[in-house]
Amino acid sequence: GKSGYDHYMLKEIHEQPRALRQCLQERVDELSGTVDLGDDIADAVQNAESIQLVACGTSYHAALYAAELFRSQGVPAQAFVASEYVTSPPPHDDDTLVVGVTQSGETADTLSALRDAQRRGVDTLAVTNVVGSTAARECDGVLYIRSGPEIGVAATKTFSAQVLAVNMVAAVMGNGSASHEFVSALRDLPGQVQTVLDETNAREVAERFVDSDAYFFIGRGYDYPVAMEGALKMKEISYKHAEGFPAGELKHGPLALVTANTPVFAVVTGETGSEKTVGNVKEVEARDAPVVAVTDGRTDVERYADEVLEVPETDPRLAPVLANVQLQLVSYHVAKQLGRNIDKPRNLAKSVTVE
Ligand code: M6R
Repeated sequence: GKSGYDHYMLKEIHEQPRALRQCLQERVDELSGTVDLGDDIADAVQNAESIQLVACGTSYHAALYAAELFRSQGVPAQAFVASEYVTSPPPHDDDTLVVGVTQSGETADTLSALRDAQRRGVDTLAVTNVVGSTAARECDGVLYIRSGPEIGVAATKTFSAQVLAVNMVAAVMGNGSASHEFVSALRDLPGQVQTVLDETNAREVAERFVDSDAYFFIGRGYDYPVAMEGALKMKEISYKHAEGFPAGELKHGPLALVTANTPVFAVVTGETGSEKTVGNVKEVEARDAPVVAVTDGRTDVERYADEVLEVPETDPRLAPVLANVQLQLVSYHVAKQLGRNIDKPRNLAKSVTVE
């Protein structure tokens, strides 16, 4: 059941600290500063000369995040929308690894992309939540994200666990030894998600902006997939127009849509590029659009914001996970105010088993 929550989505948002602890369990060792996902995964990722990620929807946003993490380890990596990968398969070589990111392990487009890769003789790895799912059975390797069952159609805790899992994969690329600082940041993440859940003002922000014409989300670097995810969650459950952009793209077109009735959610965490995103926020402010900063406080973005959704400071590779929890809650409360069918949005299914 819903354990007293109004919706599965809210229950699952609140289950995130536990889901993340399960994902980390017996995989990270703070004393030795190591991340251990088993020999099979270590071999697969350490032997990969390049990585192609395939996924859909929310899992695609986790894949975008993963690609950036892997590139930061010096491994060429790119995320593809699975249906596009099938339509136009990119070149690969013998040492390419194809990683399918799929909560359910049953998404037809993603399975089709993985099968396509296998037909071409490429090694595959599934990052999935469901033990014994088709992706888990068919791929050469499998990494379970261990979030527990997700009932709400909107993916919430599984996104957070996917991002945590691929952070561990990135650590394994560097021979499994991460810095002590990073390993303790991993260990602290579930507690920091709890802090966000306990202290959030997302509901007030949702109430203030529930009548808006549209919602825009911007971010750079690791904040970019979170901006995309914030927009997807908003459109999926509130049925309101929402779009996510890389912050730098705003002035290349979307800025024309920005008005006093289109709040812009700026995800600003970490250091890389954050100052530039603050610059984009100033552009938005100059067009009278309300700005909601989702931030760890490393910049002065609050000065230009109408509302602030704060997150605790952590490693820049993890902070966007915390920002995303704030955005999940904003979407939830907007949808709730509008009386939407939050756990089963119109026209959508939990698992999309046709191409
Ligand atoms: O089970 P999968 O992770 O493969 O599902 C992929 C998408 O269908 C899924 O993430 C979808 O976008 C969610 N409903 C978004 O909340």
